[in-house]
Amino acid sequence: MKLFIPGPTQVHPDILAEMARPAIGHRTPECAELWAAARAGLGRLMFTQHEVFMLTAPASAMMEAAVRNLVHEHSLHVVNGAFSNRWFEIAKSNGKQAVAVDVPWGQGIDADCLRAALEAANAEGKSYDIVTVVHNETSTGTVTPLPPLAEVLQDYPNTLLCVDAVSSMAGAEVRVDDWQLDVCLFGLQKCLALPAGMAIAAVSPRAMQRAAEVENRGWVLDFLRLAKGNEKEQSPTTPSTAHLYALVAQLARIEQEGLENRWRRHSEMAAMTRQWAAGHGWLPFPQEGNRSNTVSCLARGEGPDFVPALNALKAQGILVSNGYGDLKGQTFRIGHMGEHTMDDLQDLLQRFDAALNAEVQS
Ligand SMILES: Cc1ncc(COP(=O)(O)O)c(C=O)c1O
Repeated sequence: MKLFIPGPTQVHPDILAEMARPAIGHRTPECAELWAAARAGLGRLMFTQHEVFMLTAPASAMMEAAVRNLVHEHSLHVVNGAFSNRWFEIAKSNGKQAVAVDVPWGQGIDADCLRAALEAANAEGKSYDIVTVVHNETSTGTVTPLPPLAEVLQDYPNTLLCVDAVSSMAGAEVRVDDWQLDVCLFGLQKCLALPAGMAIAAVSPRAMQRAAEVENRGWVLDFLRLAKGNEKEQSPTTPSTAHLYALVAQLARIEQEGLENRWRRHSEMAAMTRQWAAGHGWLPFPQEGNRSNTVSCLARGEGPDFVPALNALKAQGILVSNGYGDLKGQTFRIGHMGEHTMDDLQDLLQRFDAALNAEVQS
């Protein structure tokens, strides 16, 4: 199968080979070396000096970790798609007093809208411990610039900014320290182009301070326990060493390409996809200014039905995603992320066109 879905995505054969290395003991110097190399590389990837945590878990586990470690009682969740809604659901299911601000799907998160929600709470004498936002909503291909949100939070020093960068990290610019992100989390299976299996987060010093004051953080996701492990370059639990080998090798590949080159490649693929879609009468689902460079979500508009072409591609071993949830049949999503090149994308779009033509002629 060739994956043009918005994650998981194609993994380079050299990286797959890294995963086939023999298992090593997780309390050995070899593993500590690997752990340290991964943490250092992740720090460079995220432009951060903050604590970097790694869990053998899905990215959603880090969403839960942010809630368990940083929320005494009240949390605010800006919801503009399925994954931002997941964070809200996670907070509720952990017994927190969670509030959602709903933004229409396809729209970015407006700084004024965030400020209004924080002010409304203030007026009631309430303050939120965290606000959660998804940088790149994979369900709708919608990206939100983060610095304006961080600027709003300057006026609310008790509210920590928690960001899901699952489908943007390594495919689009994210600068954790400059942008004052208290938590920035992601998984491996999107623009990093590794198989799913690890959750990563950078956690700021003030978020660590908060964690030290929050009760019932649990055991597995406890930031303090994870930080203690980092001091020894170890995971408190048994990590997937296959993923660690692959991660260290892939971070080196990414550095070899150069992060800015990698971001540029993603933005060129997004531009090519949008141009191709416009030729068919399909329009970007997200509003202008919030269109993702890593996943294009295209709305049917005046264009032809795309579902038969998706099925024809699947029969050839190529996966492109239908719309998410209620958007199924109305939108489809092309994940141009990770290892994909302009040539790979061109090949996909030509095959897509051939499938559409075959449908017209049948
Ligand atoms: C933006 C976003 N957040 C969170 C997740 C959840 O990731 P995982 O399935 O690794 O928990 C996804 C998965 O697609 C995602 O796209």
